[in-house]
Amino acid sequence: MNITPFHQRRLSLLQHMQAGLAVIPTAPEQVRNRDTTYPYRADSYFHYLTGFPEPEAVLVLVAGRGNDGPQSILFCREKDVDKEIWDGFRHGPEAAREAFSCDAAFSIKEFDSKLAELLADQPALWFSLGHDADWDARIAAALNAVRAQARVGRRAPALIHDVRATLDEMRLVKDDYEIALMQKAASIACTAHRRAMQFAAPGRFEYAVEAEFLHEFRRQGSQYPAYPPIVAGGANACILHYVDNNRPLRDGELLLIDAGCEVDGYASDITRTFPVNGRFSGAQADVYALVLAAQTAAIAAIKPGATFHDPHDAAVRVLVQGMLDLKLLEGSVAGVIESGAFKRFYMHRTGHWLGMDVHDAGEYKTGPGDHDWRSLAPGMTLTVEPGCYIRPADDVPVAFHNIGVRIEDDVLVTQSGCEILTADAPKTIAAIEELMAEGQGLDGQ
Ligand code: GLY
Ligand code: MN
Ligand code: MN
Repeated sequence: MNITPFHQRRLSLLQHMQAGLAVIPTAPEQVRNRDTTYPYRADSYFHYLTGFPEPEAVLVLVAGRGNDGPQSILFCREKDVDKEIWDGFRHGPEAAREAFSCDAAFSIKEFDSKLAELLADQPALWFSLGHDADWDARIAAALNAVRAQARVGRRAPALIHDVRATLDEMRLVKDDYEIALMQKAASIACTAHRRAMQFAAPGRFEYAVEAEFLHEFRRQGSQYPAYPPIVAGGANACILHYVDNNRPLRDGELLLIDAGCEVDGYASDITRTFPVNGRFSGAQADVYALVLAAQTAAIAAIKPGATFHDPHDAAVRVLVQGMLDLKLLEGSVAGVIESGAFKRFYMHRTGHWLGMDVHDAGEYKTGPGDHDWRSLAPGMTLTVEPGCYIRPADDVPVAFHNIGVRIEDDVLVTQSGCEILTADAPKTIAAIEELMAEGQGLDGQ
């Protein structure tokens, strides 16, 4: 692993802090049942600053004072030969300090007492309160331990800053190392979507298609799906967070798949919708072409200086015009947008930040006003995912019943516009039908 970007990010945060001490714990292990835990994944903020993969670890950053330079201090598990026989390698503080380029490292057992020492006489604490009650209590105990020494002249920090607010701003703009990982996660997921298009066929089950994704993700070195895959045949496509994935696919239905993977902590998030039998029906093609036109308009709106809201605005305009043309709605484009009547068929937003977390860190607005949307800048990464979901209703033509379409790509804002990281997953009607015609119902290689 290249440790330089992690070191650079610590230095950037320390420079921003100017003074004080930051505490960034990693995630705890989570029990699944009895003595079995979920696969471990580090906290995203902690990973961003360290790359250290073990649980029970905390990063403490101390901004420089006087002649003392800034310090990165890692607390982690001790070496334990017996436990390593059962559960695998542990760095231990000494090897971790060296491998992760920290200034000092200590056993996690020393954390509480050392934190109280380190906090004394610091002007500010950088911590994110309110996310974990146990951590809030631990921090309060350390502050109180310092306050108890007031009579011997020790002072607790007078200021507490939300360190996540600063890290969120940093995480919004990806560095080259992050973009390379995101491209890898995107490319693996594209291969998996292509594989699924060729595997799906009437009679196969949604979970069997899901298995193709899991196989392709792991085969290419992704550690996990970035979120539970949605493999939704027919009417299930109109359930936005459908994850049961347990129904057989039927001839004549569409299949909506929202699935992405994680590579070294970075996510991809792709949705494709295609016909189970390889050919779009007339009504399916009408809705699909509309969503694709909305997505094309949204992507065209992404460039430096545009706002986060602009792609959504562009997509909604195209979708509403199409809903009127298809007689799903009545009225004018402006009237339908004003009333929000389109939300019956398009009820979510057109995208979100993407990064380590699939719905990544970072504010979308810079203030409370309707026009306070954040401006896009090179290095930001976001999804573009318009959709149209038509549940059966008396006032909707029967041909459209149960058609659910979403098309989602991952996009990097560049100096001149944007780049689609997920362009290798086919999305025009012609490209999808051609790929499916090449081999439908294929078993994975
Ligand atoms: N897969 C989650 C999302 O698209 O937001
Ligand atoms: Mn998404
Ligand atoms: Mn998605």
